[in-house]
Amino acid sequence: MGVNITITDVGPRDGLQNLSRILSVAERASLIKSLIKAGISSIEIGSFVSPRAVPTMADTDSLFNLLEINDDVDYFALVPNFKGYQLAHSVGIKNVVLVVYASNSMSNSNVGMTMQEAEKSAIKIIKQAKSDRIKITATISVAFGCPFEGNIDPAISEKLVDKLSDAGADRLVLADTIGAANPRQVSALMNRLAEKNDPQFLGCHFHDTRAMGLANVYAASESGIRYFDTSIAGLGGCPFAPGSSGNVATEDVVMMLEQMGYRTGINLSKLLSTSKFAAKLTASESSGRTSSWLNSQYRG
Ligand code: COA
Ligand code: ZN
Repeated sequence: MGVNITITDVGPRDGLQNLSRILSVAERASLIKSLIKAGISSIEIGSFVSPRAVPTMADTDSLFNLLEINDDVDYFALVPNFKGYQLAHSVGIKNVVLVVYASNSMSNSNVGMTMQEAEKSAIKIIKQAKSDRIKITATISVAFGCPFEGNIDPAISEKLVDKLSDAGADRLVLADTIGAANPRQVSALMNRLAEKNDPQFLGCHFHDTRAMGLANVYAASESGIRYFDTSIAGLGGCPFAPGSSGNVATEDVVMMLEQMGYRTGINLSKLLSTSKFAAKLTASESSGRTSSWLNSQYRG
């Protein structure tokens, strides 16, 4: 029996937030349902952010209300501040993703706060979530490189992990928001973090801007990381991080990990259909590299 790896598909949030066309709530729900059909049991469905800042993510409350709630699927929603947390909580979201920043410029660009203010706000949200019995995934944005400040000292992320785990976060995800990381850099940081923390408490989020997404997933898996954010068809990008492109594609990560003997619980043949559907829905090309190989395997 292989070791389990959890894949959270962030396509409905990270994948759609940067689209020039705003999908309807029904279209967003159809993408989520298609992911579930492929066996994905952990999905970031959207964000509770200012609709003026990110119009594609408006109405995540109505979207959540269209989804079937059961024990088989965990729905996550991203929040940028306490107001977003309260909105997510009020509609019944049980898994909240919050973001802290390893650089000041990125924090300012994204949420108009200094990185210290964002950290303080995150700790306030975690405390509230504890009493509301909501699980918190804390994401450290630009942990491996910043579009404004370049290289980022890994000690910044280490300190953030310590502080947020002390505050009670349920998981810490190290995010390569712009796809600046290389595999050795990933090994160095994730090995250090995995020495000090239970690796089950950690996760990684890679963008594939420079085609290093899979290599970085591999490096993190060798450090003991068993939790990855990926995006169906490689959709995505951050509107506030110049030069960022999509996340590493879910189908590529699933294929690599399954072939290496890990278990993801995801059906590759169905995932391929979902990837085609996602590309059609967003009028974009799938950046998943395995599609043609998978097509030949699952013809018909
Ligand atoms: N959800 C919905 N509306 C929100 C909100 C939230 N989480 N937080 C603030 N608002 C509203 C305020 O109520 C206010 O509305 P009003 O003008 O009708 O009174 C308006 O947004 C501005 O609020 P303010 O506190 O001045 O914030 P701002 O204009 O500096 O914007 C953020 C700050 C954080 C709300 C905004 O930058 C944002 O939503 N960013 C999201 C970034 C993101 O999603 N990045 C990608 C993920 S990494
Ligand atoms: Zn991202």
